[in-house]
Amino acid sequence: MRAPTPGRQRTGIVVVAAGSGTRLGHGMPKALVPLAGQTLLDHALRGVIDSGVADELVVVLPPGDDRLDRVCRAAADRSGTPVATVPGGAERNDSVRAGLAALGIVDHVLVHDAARCLTPPAVFARIAAALAAGGTAVVPGVPVADTIKAVDPAAAAALDIPDAAVVTGTPDRSGLRAIQTPQGFDAAALAAAHDLAAGWDRAAAAAITDDAGLMERAGHPVLVVPGDPAAFKITTALDLLLAEAVLARQDTTDPHPGALMADRPLIPRTGIGIDVHAVSTDPERGLWLAGLHWPGEAGLSGHSDGDAVAHAACDALFSAAGIGDLGTHFGTDRPEFAGAPGVRLLGEAARLVRAAGWEIGNVAVQFVGRRPKFGPRRTQADAALTAAAGAPVTVTATTSDGLGYEGSGQGITAYATALVYPASANLAG
Ligand code: CTP
Ligand code: MG
Repeated sequence: MRAPTPGRQRTGIVVVAAGSGTRLGHGMPKALVPLAGQTLLDHALRGVIDSGVADELVVVLPPGDDRLDRVCRAAADRSGTPVATVPGGAERNDSVRAGLAALGIVDHVLVHDAARCLTPPAVFARIAAALAAGGTAVVPGVPVADTIKAVDPAAAAALDIPDAAVVTGTPDRSGLRAIQTPQGFDAAALAAAHDLAAGWDRAAAAAITDDAGLMERAGHPVLVVPGDPAAFKITTALDLLLAEAVLARQDTTDPHPGALMADRPLIPRTGIGIDVHAVSTDPERGLWLAGLHWPGEAGLSGHSDGDAVAHAACDALFSAAGIGDLGTHFGTDRPEFAGAPGVRLLGEAARLVRAAGWEIGNVAVQFVGRRPKFGPRRTQADAALTAAAGAPVTVTATTSDGLGYEGSGQGITAYATALVYPASANLAG
């Protein structure tokens, strides 16, 4: 054990996601495989980022596939946490080395398998705390449920029994732990252990399947702290089914399976959004409403195209998903959306809602205004907004019997409701 160095220590996390997922057999990198409406990597990054442990985060990806790169960029955008990506290597150890090389100067490193994509944030915090207390190598472990036997297949070779092996020993189960990730290390010690292993032949390197194994070989003591059953590794189709089931039973207000609430039914959520825009006095400003251009009509004022219907729909979606509002997502920190058309905002809102783990049931909008005459183009408006949201959006219109600013033609109000449900419910049925 090393004495903790004084002052704030920096922690880097390397998430290895460069494996091919051969045993899962989806014909795509495992990190890309869908789970409850998101990729495995989305789930993995949520746990990592929400733990708040990482000062630096590097994700190691299969070379030459930019789909996972986009997943990382979206996670970085959502969370405000920088996420660097690097291509991995042929074996897990090669990928870890590539990730370590991409880290800046850190005191501690946590190495995590993206395949353990439901690992609760508390496990990261536990490992980081043990490192801060002076641990050189700390791994999460859980008790072993099965009885484990040591076997010798060669000793059974003379028997005519397929795949048989002779048992050579039965270790005491109480002294065994199944080891998970994230595994935490003193950064310099881990780098040295990997450098040492870089010189080994392939068979010797392949025999060591985790980073703690390398540290043991380098002579460092390794501590085990409690892991979590939810940190299981997705290796085969059965594991993926288990992950689907875990997510389907999860408390819908908490994105982590650590908060499993087995008795809680899956409840859809509704949201509301209201938007008001004044009719512009600028004769050049055309009207955009409900995703359509309305030639000859006076436009609505506002920073954007003033599409009150689309904006109310966005706010209703954000409200239902519980992820803020228009200002949260399209504020000054996302200049690419400044002045964007309403349909573009709606498309992005729908994407954000889905990224937060929700599927969209429908969005209903009614606007109050003297103009435009909406009925003849209602179907067209529904189609434009439905295409943008990727879910049914319906729009209706009414007047206010001449009352108020809507009645006098000074402005338009749009009221929207939205219904969302946990994406995992799709798979639970
Ligand atoms: N991994 C990696 N680079 C490799 C091999 C594995 O980054 N060359 C990562 C995987 O992406 C995974 C973790 O190491 O997050 C554990 O590996 P494993 O569960 O074996 O995943 P795969 O190698 O993808 O699966 P398979 O062995 O079935 O192909
Ligand atoms: Mg593998």
